[in-house]
Amino acid sequence: MKIGFAVPAASTLAKATGTIVAAAFEGKVLGPAAKELDGLTRGAVARAVKNARFAGKKGEAFAFPAPVGLAASHVLLVGLGAPDKLDAAAAEEAGGTVMGRLQAIRETRATVFAALPGAAKLDPADFAAHFAFGAHLRSYRFDKYRTKEKPDDKPVIAEVAIVLKAASEAKKRFAPLAGVAEGIFLTRDVVSEPPNVIYPETLAQRAKTLTRDGVKVEVLDVPAMKKLGMGALLGVAQGSVRDARLVVMQWNGGKKGTAPVAFIGKGVTFDTGGISIKPSKGMEDMKWDMAGAGTVIGLMKALAKRKAKVNAIGVVGLVENMPDGNAQRPGDVVTSMSGQTIEVLNTDAEGRLVLADAMWYCQKRFKPKFMVDLATLTGAIIMALGHHRAGLFSNDDKLAENLKEAGSATGEKLWRMPLGPEYDKQLASQIADVANIGDGGAGSVTAAQFLQRFVNDVPWAHLDIAGTAWSKRDSAMVPKGATAFGLRLLDRMVADHYEGR
Ligand code: BES
Ligand code: MN
Ligand code: ZN
Repeated sequence: MKIGFAVPAASTLAKATGTIVAAAFEGKVLGPAAKELDGLTRGAVARAVKNARFAGKKGEAFAFPAPVGLAASHVLLVGLGAPDKLDAAAAEEAGGTVMGRLQAIRETRATVFAALPGAAKLDPADFAAHFAFGAHLRSYRFDKYRTKEKPDDKPVIAEVAIVLKAASEAKKRFAPLAGVAEGIFLTRDVVSEPPNVIYPETLAQRAKTLTRDGVKVEVLDVPAMKKLGMGALLGVAQGSVRDARLVVMQWNGGKKGTAPVAFIGKGVTFDTGGISIKPSKGMEDMKWDMAGAGTVIGLMKALAKRKAKVNAIGVVGLVENMPDGNAQRPGDVVTSMSGQTIEVLNTDAEGRLVLADAMWYCQKRFKPKFMVDLATLTGAIIMALGHHRAGLFSNDDKLAENLKEAGSATGEKLWRMPLGPEYDKQLASQIADVANIGDGGAGSVTAAQFLQRFVNDVPWAHLDIAGTAWSKRDSAMVPKGATAFGLRLLDRMVADHYEGR
């Protein structure tokens, strides 16, 4: 799909083909373009709205066949709520909602009139750029394996033109957002791919493509990890015929020599549970047990694409967790890179084993300003928070606050969960330094507590995205499937707090 920005001509409204999109505000108030349309059609727009279940509120949209006098096929009014409360997030949501409607009516082209009333809080260039961002994010589809789908069955938006006087300014402001979208689409792609296509080696290859964007990418193979002593990560991988990988990505957009920010991702390309095998029902979901890694890879791409003024590190641990003659057994003791020994009481608690070595490696080598890990770590976080918020665990209040704030700003909401010595005690092992599961409940907290044992003095946060990495329902900007949850929020936190310093 092509999204472009154009300056309006005198006859643009009358001549636009496809669907005309125009804004309306709370109380059925028509925006400037809708008013002009109404004039062109002898009041047809106001008449259509009058008895419709459409009040112009945020999140609403209302489509009707274009009245006589227009070249368009449909008019789509999008509700923006109160003009004085209009912000970038509302513009993005409106763009996403419009894209959803256009797909539903199988439209192929649309012209969006982005003029806003004088009372609007947001300036039109920002409105247009963020509207375009929302529309673009919603337009994502992963349909490469649907070979029999007839073209008529697929939504095929070919082109969206956004019309406003400040078109060139809007285009400029859209550019970095388009960069972030590229990262998001990469994440959604790798998370959606089936597990016979994406495994450690192939996911590492995808990460390697970031070289083109100016990211330095290193891939460590099994002998290299053995040499480093990554017994925890390698123990998980040993039951699979697919060899493990550790990918290290560096984006150096900041001042030379300033400490980087660091992101670590759990990349279990398929989690059968290992010998502590999972039930078969729903096991296919475990292809997206690499969503943390996928999000870190996409985030690095986003930072590079928008040329973020920051030094950033991405480290992802890639393994497949399989049962096999060579698989790790419940009861095995492994030695992590940190030197701590771990009794593996349950081979299905594997993500933390992978992260333990990936995090240790990252902080030892890069001495980052902070470290944030993303992981589809526990089913228990879904019990606690469902699919609307990810769990946030942190040893640093300021970092936690910044993350929460960025989460609210981007709609990727976090809920802070506790850490504490009481929970840490639940991880005691009879024969090793620590066990990989806790007894006595609070499964998400003990998992985080386990991770904390592999964190030194660095500010650290853990995002448990097991409930948010995949969605069974469309929402305004995220079609069902892989969400890339966490990417926008981390990009936002970097932009708000760590650039140019
Ligand atoms: N990948 C799973 C967690 C998960 C579950 C993610 C459901 C998404 C949806 C993780 O590796 C796991 O199996 N965790 C276990 C831990 C338990 C054995 C202590 C769990 O949550 O059951
Ligand atoms: Mn598991
Ligand atoms: Zn897992």
